[in-house]
Amino acid sequence: MSASQPGPSPAAGKGGGPKAAIREALESERARTLQLTGPLSSDALVRQHSLLMSPIVWDLGHIAAFEQLWLVERLDGISNESSLEGTYDAFRTPRSERGDLNLADGQAAADHMHEVREAAMARFESVDLTTASRLLQDGFVYDMVRQHEAQHQETILQTIQLMESEDYDPAERMSLPEPDAPVSPEAAREMVRVLAGEFDLGAAPGGFTYDNERPRQSVNAGEFKIGRYPVCNRDYLDFVLGGGYGDRSLWTDEGWAWKEQEDLVAPLYWRPDESDDPEGLGWSRRTSLGTETLRPDHPVIHVCGYEAEAYARFRGCRLPTETEWEKAAAWDPKTGQSRRYPWGSARPDVDLANLDQLGFGVAPLGAYPRGVSALGCEHMLGDVWEWTSSTFKGYDGFEPFPYAEYSEMFFGDEYWVLRGGSWATRPSVARNTSRNWDYPKRRQIMSGIRLARDT
Ligand code: AVJ
Ligand code: FE
Repeated sequence: MSASQPGPSPAAGKGGGPKAAIREALESERARTLQLTGPLSSDALVRQHSLLMSPIVWDLGHIAAFEQLWLVERLDGISNESSLEGTYDAFRTPRSERGDLNLADGQAAADHMHEVREAAMARFESVDLTTASRLLQDGFVYDMVRQHEAQHQETILQTIQLMESEDYDPAERMSLPEPDAPVSPEAAREMVRVLAGEFDLGAAPGGFTYDNERPRQSVNAGEFKIGRYPVCNRDYLDFVLGGGYGDRSLWTDEGWAWKEQEDLVAPLYWRPDESDDPEGLGWSRRTSLGTETLRPDHPVIHVCGYEAEAYARFRGCRLPTETEWEKAAAWDPKTGQSRRYPWGSARPDVDLANLDQLGFGVAPLGAYPRGVSALGCEHMLGDVWEWTSSTFKGYDGFEPFPYAEYSEMFFGDEYWVLRGGSWATRPSVARNTSRNWDYPKRRQIMSGIRLARDT
């Protein structure tokens, strides 16, 4: 598998027809899942490494159960059967309880995934993708199943990072680009001014997108400024060393209470550095591949929403709303249209964004000049998910489809929206309109910061 060709090649649709392209897309997603889990010992697969995460075999069983439900049982939209009941239902069996389940071992999980795939593909033979069924049209439900598996890969990568029982030795690794010239400390803090005016928020019709990205609508984000780059370690370290974690005035009541309770003093995985690297910042980070000296020009990663919010206040800034974020990523003032990706409509590749997992970490600021948005922001997709000040809600005119448990069950003030996708996000899931959400206290996710302010 080549890292520069994530997902199905566009040509596959032409040569073998749309069905061949769908088969290939599902196969390539599966190949990645197995590639990521392949190096793990059987103990690492079944152990619950953290109460925040599932045992990895649970994710595998759940990927299979989801596929069984949607591509075998519910395909005609008539059956109410559910193979997601019980063990592999994310609602009935919350993550914290998944360590006590009697789960299959890694081999049995992989075998089961394979059996379900065979059944789904046998059923696929007779499926008519041109019917009026919304689930089938243009392969909607197949893309949904594919993107679901891709999202669980990112979850599995979070678990692998938390795992302390053994080192992870990836089957394939890609080196990440360096900028032609390093971004100066001043440039790293530049902000881009975005003028008030309407733009198209949300996903354009056609192809698979999640219900929470729709319906597309014209919105005026007002005038604002937003960071050209995500916040880097050099700048975040000022906050750490400058007393940011002890300054009550920078934190909300909720944020302060959580920080105190958990005794947060730096991002997750940071450790004072024992090596005397003169280039370093005096800190290192534990990653799934080992410990690395903290790089000043890397985007900060593994901060919770409260830390992001306090850091923004430390700089006299705030977090962007998700509408502001999406406008900065998508809006092209020359054409008056929103782009699917910051750079346009070309599929993501290794020169455009740090997506697709195999870098196993973030890339330095300025490594993706070709990925710049029309308004001048870089690293909008890839590297880190960026916390926004928005809580997770349906857009005006929201309709749950095809199931309320994907998005609607999470609408409310408890969840904050993150945007942009991370190094661990597959390109099939990353686009300007993608919305991720989590509790603001979580930081095992691949989360970082981009600042905003009023002008
Ligand atoms: C969008 C990442 C918050 O993992 O809870 C996976 C994605 N939904 N299976 C999650 C998801 C159902 C979801 N996030
Ligand atoms: Fe799921």
